[in-house]
Amino acid sequence: MDPIRGKTILVTGAARRIGRAIAIKLASAGARVLIHYGTSREEAESAAAECGNAAIFQADLAKFSEIGRLFAEIAQREPRLDALVNNAARFTRIHPLEVTEADWDFIHDVNLKAYFFCAQQAALLMRRNPGGEGRIVNISSMGAFGAWPEYVHYCASKAGVTGMTRALAKALAPAITVNAVAPGIIPFEELENERIQRMIKSTPAGRPGTGEEIAEAVLYFLTAGDFVTGQTLQVDGGMGLG
Ligand SMILES: NC(=O)c1ccc[n+]([C@@H]2O[C@H](COP(=O)([O-])OP(=O)(O)OC[C@H]3O[C@@H](n4cnc5c(N)ncnc54)[C@H](OP(=O)(O)O)[C@@H]3O)[C@@H](O)[C@H]2O)c1
Repeated sequence: MDPIRGKTILVTGAARRIGRAIAIKLASAGARVLIHYGTSREEAESAAAECGNAAIFQADLAKFSEIGRLFAEIAQREPRLDALVNNAARFTRIHPLEVTEADWDFIHDVNLKAYFFCAQQAALLMRRNPGGEGRIVNISSMGAFGAWPEYVHYCASKAGVTGMTRALAKALAPAITVNAVAPGIIPFEELENERIQRMIKSTPAGRPGTGEEIAEAVLYFLTAGDFVTGQTLQVDGGMGLG
């Protein structure tokens, strides 16, 4: 895709935290960012203002029908869609012996099912672009690679994102590239949490990461050529090195 200036890019879960940092980074690089949010309307409005009055879209991505509605709305309001950043996700801590079907679906409906159907709907819109070009970046997690005993359901969803990224990259090549970024610890409100502090201390970088650092990796995949696809970049301060 090369230059990002003027490209229309949907970022899901862009009202807060990492998604917001990604949206701001892309907007400051000249992209036309579309801000998606689920419940954080006020934060979405403030993110949109920071992104130069970006367009805002609401949808509960846990609902298949809402994903269809979201992309129909985008098709109606936007002349084109160049890229999707699948970022909105859920995170719960439950021992695997206590995970219910509802707990499992709560995570997978958003972290994996919605990622897939957002990618599918986005790719269908990208096919209308000259040359059918597009870019998809999935925000995964180091949970896709690590073994986190109280987050087995979450780890499974994020490992699914890695598998999906690879298979989808092959299915949509060469016009649409599909890559992923796996963040390490990027704390916001939870910075003071003792467990998070322990994890930060054991990270080779010796510090937490920032939303800005994740955004830079996303920007790389959005601007890379079609020779870079199916990859997951771990942006984790070396946490995954063991
Ligand atoms: N922070 C970290 O340390 C870390 C580490 C590894 C991976 N990640 C990944 O990075 C991404 C961003 O994480 P984060 O910590 O910045 O944010 P987050 O608080 O986990 O979630 C980001 C946003 O997802 C949206 N969302 C969740 N369920 C939704 C639904 N059903 N429908 C629509 N939107 C929904 C929420 O939007 P609303 O607020 O508008 O409802 C929320 O603000 C996620 O994919 C996460 O798994 C984060």
